Amino acid sequence: MGTTVERTQVGIVGAGPAGLFLAHMLHRQGIASVIVESRTREEIEGTIRAGVLEQWTVDLMNAMGLGDRMMREGHFHSGITLRFDRRSHHIDMAGLTGGKRVTVYAQHEVIKDLVAARLADGGDIRFGVSGTSLHGLDGDRPSIRYRRTPDGPEEELRCDFIAGCDGFHGPSRQAIPAALRTEYQKIYPFGWLGILCNAPPSHHELIYASHERGFSLLSTRSPEVQRLYIQCDPTDDIANWSDDRIWAELHTRLETVEGWSLKEGPIFQKGIIAMRSFVCDTMRHGRLFLAGDAAHIVPPTGAKGLNLAVADVLVLARALDAFYREGRSDGLDGYSATALRRIWKAERFSWYMTTMLHRTEEETPFERRIRQAELDYVTSSRAAATALAENYVGLAFD
Ligand code: PHB
Repeated sequence: MGTTVERTQVGIVGAGPAGLFLAHMLHRQGIASVIVESRTREEIEGTIRAGVLEQWTVDLMNAMGLGDRMMREGHFHSGITLRFDRRSHHIDMAGLTGGKRVTVYAQHEVIKDLVAARLADGGDIRFGVSGTSLHGLDGDRPSIRYRRTPDGPEEELRCDFIAGCDGFHGPSRQAIPAALRTEYQKIYPFGWLGILCNAPPSHHELIYASHERGFSLLSTRSPEVQRLYIQCDPTDDIANWSDDRIWAELHTRLETVEGWSLKEGPIFQKGIIAMRSFVCDTMRHGRLFLAGDAAHIVPPTGAKGLNLAVADVLVLARALDAFYREGRSDGLDGYSATALRRIWKAERFSWYMTTMLHRTEEETPFERRIRQAELDYVTSSRAAATALAENYVGLAFD
């Protein structure tokens, strides 16, 4: 029996934020795409990730007609709180950036909205495929091979271009010969233990708390569900963390100011994530273009991950539009360099927020004082607070 061969213009590997946003953008430009995804729809819609959207991401979702539920259920904050040394400091993001806000709307809710809208538009998303591999990237007929079921026949999707949106562990980055890519990496000696609990909000905005026992973050999901994080050993076993231990640690790290208390509720989800910064340069090999976590990872402290994935595919969609409409390849040729300029700035900001807010065993007394001076500076200088705010709500596109 021969291999089933199909054709599309852009083959997209991965139905995360990068792949789904790209499919929507291409559809609006009249460019056909097919997404292949190794996980099931239930898995991608249930994966708990972070939840902060930059202002332009919110504006883009609305402009694309994808923002209705976000506008109803999202949380729109004018700033964040930095808490350390038994004091709280409000960073007035909207005031410092000409009205840009912090939107809290979980990544898997964005995914649900994008999948539903794409399928309603007649979009082609193939969930639960196995054995995905990329071929012919050097030529002008690249293809994606995969199986719909683990022991089903191999199928081939021939494309003009392939977008590798398959996350850090996907096959796309590995399809670029190792000698042609440079990878930059920093592994942090700590992770985050994240919980979801049924409780009312303890505060009207996010609190980033730096404490001698380690960092802690208070975030939200809905009037009934809260999201909280505690800095922990990245290799720790979640079984070592009873609910009582988690609450004790959260109270200690967050309840450091007079008159503020943390509201508790039953914990229904908990897990530990490791933290790394990672960049792959180049993001392009022949007709393959990487986007999102396939090419770069940021630690969650700067709340940049999803936004950076969307920024990549915005650049890619524009380049593909110029190619199909005007036969121009300059956008595609410049894709990696253009995307990497924004990525490195987001890497810098995420590293900066992470370094400023976390304590480590390895930290020298000198480094500790520098960190304290940074916190003092950013909460006492309008210029420093403006720089933080500008990065947090999202840098302008150039
Ligand atoms: C979250 O709500 O999950 C969240 C918020 C802010 C961050 C990271 C995660 O910096």
